[in-house]
Amino acid sequence: MSVCSKVTGVGFFVPDRVVTNDDLSALIDTSDEWIHQRTGIRARRHAPDGMTNVDMAEIAAKHAMDEAGIGPGDIDLLIAATLSPDYSFPSNAPFIQRRLGLGPVAAIDVRNQCTGFLYSIAVADAYIRTGRARRVLVIGSEVQSGGLDFDSRSRDIAVIFGDGAGAFVMEAGDSSDGKGVLAVALHGDGTHAEDLWTDAERSYEHPRLTMEMYESGAVWPKMRGRAVFIQAVKELPEIINEVLAKTGHALDDVDCFAFHQANLRINQWVGSSMNIPDEKIFNNIERYGNTTAATIPGVIFEARASGLIHDGSLVVAAAFGAGFTSAAITIRF
Ligand code: UT7
Repeated sequence: MSVCSKVTGVGFFVPDRVVTNDDLSALIDTSDEWIHQRTGIRARRHAPDGMTNVDMAEIAAKHAMDEAGIGPGDIDLLIAATLSPDYSFPSNAPFIQRRLGLGPVAAIDVRNQCTGFLYSIAVADAYIRTGRARRVLVIGSEVQSGGLDFDSRSRDIAVIFGDGAGAFVMEAGDSSDGKGVLAVALHGDGTHAEDLWTDAERSYEHPRLTMEMYESGAVWPKMRGRAVFIQAVKELPEIINEVLAKTGHALDDVDCFAFHQANLRINQWVGSSMNIPDEKIFNNIERYGNTTAATIPGVIFEARASGLIHDGSLVVAAAFGAGFTSAAITIRF
């Protein structure tokens, strides 16, 4: 018997507060028509005042642990993927560990933005396969709304992000039934780092944060949207083909493609260039926008609820984002 990692619980949470494109049009120079036509988004969720990243992570994690039938004492590694931790120092994972009462387990943050959840699965899978962990809680949680500039100068980026959290419980199991994480592919290339980034705060300056950075808008995320789009539609097919080649699966063998939700047009482009039937690609960007590290578990949670992913389904999850980084995994549920 060889050990592999199985997904035994999936959790997902979004705050109740729905922010429509029309709501944003009241704040900044945009329109429902522009946003929907260019991105596929109709609405996103924003956390109400006082709701934190850790609050959302806790809810999603508890759902995943309930499904797995385990309690806080059963987890031996916590991995928290996020770009919007409650505090930049210390990391987010110890706060989640404390909230969930996990005991003194290993707790680490993964700061890979849109690919953060898949990179975290790759870390969890490696720990489980090498016998260093038996049960890993992987959480992707984001409060994007507090970090967005709701001003027309940032209208390209302020409309695309939303808040939410998702979680997986991953456990060591026997690979003989063919289920679990089958392959992982990860890429990183900093050549285009400044095409999607936040210029400040800067740890190489003293002080790291100044009024001038606020006044100039350097503290808000910036994106060269066209450049990101072009790179995304190039990288995603490459990494999907790479992950499938690792196990000798063909595209047709895959039952569901759980893609990151950055822009519906990116997913449609990838789908049509690879001849993937539309019905195999599960999208929920219309309702949630891009929830970054929370997106992939949210897509998988809802694809399961819709019946597209069921017992025995072969799923390819793939993401592309800031860095740039890209990631893909193959899982049989
Ligand atoms: O995980 C995050 C990764 N990010 C992505 O994957 C994003 C990838 N890129 C995109 O999704 C698209 O590039 C966007 C949706 C962000 C932008 O669409 P686009 O078709 O590339 O538009 P553009 O940036 O070329 O801008 C076209 C026009 C500009 O106006 P002018 O210069 O032609 O007058 C923009 O100022 O659209 C304007 N614009 C807007 N108009 C209304 C940009 N944002 C908005 C907006 N509402 N929210």
